Amino acid sequence: MTNKIQLTITRPDDWHVHLRDNEALIHTVPDAARYFGRSIVMPNLNPPVMNTKQAMAYRNRILESRPAGSLWQPMMVLYLTDNTKPEEISQAKASGQIFACKYYPAGATTNSDSGVTKLSNIASVLSQMEKESIPLLLHGEVNDHNVDIFDREAVFIDQQLQKLIHNFPELNIVLEHISSKESAQFVAERPHGLAATITPQHLLYNRNHMLAGGIKPHYYCLPILKRDVHQKALIAAATSGDPRFFLGTDSAPHTTCSKENACGCAGCYSNHAAIEFYAEAFELAGALDKLEGFASHHGPDFYGLPRNIDTITLKKMPWKNPTKLPFMKNTITPLGAGEMRQWQVT
Ligand code: NCD
Ligand code: ZN
Repeated sequence: MTNKIQLTITRPDDWHVHLRDNEALIHTVPDAARYFGRSIVMPNLNPPVMNTKQAMAYRNRILESRPAGSLWQPMMVLYLTDNTKPEEISQAKASGQIFACKYYPAGATTNSDSGVTKLSNIASVLSQMEKESIPLLLHGEVNDHNVDIFDREAVFIDQQLQKLIHNFPELNIVLEHISSKESAQFVAERPHGLAATITPQHLLYNRNHMLAGGIKPHYYCLPILKRDVHQKALIAAATSGDPRFFLGTDSAPHTTCSKENACGCAGCYSNHAAIEFYAEAFELAGALDKLEGFASHHGPDFYGLPRNIDTITLKKMPWKNPTKLPFMKNTITPLGAGEMRQWQVT
C-alpha cells in the first residue's frame, strides 16, 4: 500500500481553519475550497463572531469568494465569551449553519482577548450546548505566564479538561490542534465524546525545525511545536485508525512581515497544500492506508454528519512548495516554504 504512487480517497474536510475576513477571503477561500468538501471556520476575527447574526453575515462574505461551481461549504462556529448567553446557543442551533462553539482562554492566542476568563463563567452555556448537541471546540492551553509555554497544553488537561468532562459528561468536545503526547494519550483513553484535530505542522515538524540553527518564525504557531517525542506520539495517533483523531489544518494566515518580526504572530499557513502535507506525513509513517479515515471519515462521523460521497486522487509527483504566496498587498510565507513536497492532487 505504501509504495503506491496514486491514492484515491473520499473527499476530505478540514475541521479547523482560519479564513480571516474581507480582502483576505479572496486568497483563503479558494485555497480552502480546492478539494475540501467542508471547512470548520474559526471565529477569531476582530471583533469575534459571537452570535448567529454575525456568523451568518460572515458566512455570506465567505461565500462571495467561493470559486464558481465549487460545492465547498463553510461551517460556522461561535466564539464564546464571558457574556455568551444560553439563548445564543439555541439560536445558533436553529440556524442550521452553526456547527460548534469555540473556547479560547482569554489571551491564549491570536485574537483571543475577548475569550473566556474562567470556564465556570460559561457553565450555563455549556449545559445548553450539551442539550442541543453542539460540540465544544477547545484551544486547550492555559494562559498562565507562570506555566512554561511547552507545558501549557498538558497543564490544561490536568487543570481544566478533566473537570470539564466530569461536569458535562454528554458534551461533545474537540481538543483542537493537539501538540503533545499527553493530549494524544488522554484522547485515546476516553471511550466517546472527546476527539482531537491534528495539524500538518505538528505531524511534519518539531521544535528543532523552529529553533535549531537559527530561529525560524514561520514554524511558530500555538500550541507551539514541541520535542520530537511529542511529534512521534501525534504521528502514531493520526495514523492509528482511531476515529477520535481527524484532520484540522489550523491554517492561519499572517503576512510574512508580521511573522518576521520582533514580536512575530503565531500561525502557519498550509491550506494551499493541506492534503499534500498530510499525505507526506502518512507516507513517512508507512500508513498511507490510514489517510482516508483521518482526512475524510472520522470528522463527519464525530460531528454526526454524512461523509462526502465523491473522491479525490493524489499522485506522487514531487513539486516545489512556493517561498511566498500573494496576500492582499503583502505576502504569506507558507508552511514548509521552498521545500520539496511529494504529493499533488490531480
Ligand atoms: C491561530 C490564528 O492565527 O488565528 N494561530 C495559531 O498559531 N494557531 C489561532 C489559533 O488557532 O490558536
Ligand atoms: Zn486555530
